[in-house]
Amino acid sequence: MKVVHTIEDLRDQLRGQLRVSFVPTMGNLHEGHLALMKLARQHGDPVVASIFVNRLQFGPNEDFDRYPRTLQNDIDKLERARDVYVLFAPDERELYPEPQSYRVQPPQELGDILEGECRPGFFGGVSTVVLKLFSCVQPRVAVFGKKDYQQLMVIRNMCRQFQLPVEILAHETVRQDNGLALSSRNMYLQETERQEAPQLFATLKFLQQQIHAGIHDVPQLEQIAIAGLNARGWQVDYIAVRRRRDLHKPTREEVVAGEPLVVLAAAKLGATRLIDNLEI
Ligand code: PAF
Repeated sequence: MKVVHTIEDLRDQLRGQLRVSFVPTMGNLHEGHLALMKLARQHGDPVVASIFVNRLQFGPNEDFDRYPRTLQNDIDKLERARDVYVLFAPDERELYPEPQSYRVQPPQELGDILEGECRPGFFGGVSTVVLKLFSCVQPRVAVFGKKDYQQLMVIRNMCRQFQLPVEILAHETVRQDNGLALSSRNMYLQETERQEAPQLFATLKFLQQQIHAGIHDVPQLEQIAIAGLNARGWQVDYIAVRRRRDLHKPTREEVVAGEPLVVLAAAKLGATRLIDNLEI
């Protein structure tokens, strides 16, 4: 695997390649990331991965400074998995060379709800860096995990609206046996929190089962789920059943008619904020 830090070296490595498959990450790689790289490999050649902790998508009180930066460890994992041909690991000056940078602003209806409401500016930061990375790598295919469900929708929407010639592929969320979705932030969990954490997915499963069983009062189900987690010591930001196509609230009629739905959740356990989702 080649490790490059500049756009110039990246372009040298990729000259003439028309089937580049790309996986952007913020590093601290786990099995979930490696699964994205495997999928990327099935859909293109060569596979390029990037590692860049993007300041623009962190709020002022978020974990940018303490976000784990484990480049050598990540390189070792990628070398062992043998799916990636080039790793692009730029520094901030390489991606944001000028202090006044252009920003991509997602449409409010998609970018300012749920995760975007809790983390103002988050999806603008994600869209901006992904557009920059796409411009550097010029992939034909890019792979994202479904754990960040709203992020995946924002990126698809951006590609459509900017007519980017990139096909976006989604990979199912990779979970531990106990249901906990793999995430770089799981490493912040204390031992007792680690045992409690699977309860987030268990709650999503409960909502899925209730709706499958014909209980269609979504607001009430959401309230029960939120109260249940709060009672166990979580601080819930949201648990929301939404339409898959636009993440808007479904009407009761739509729920009854079997509209494709997804339940999305974000909640804090101690100092760690976890997100997850489940399609219904
Ligand atoms: O999902 C992530 O790791 C990040 O949001 C991404 C897509 C790499 C952009 O920084």
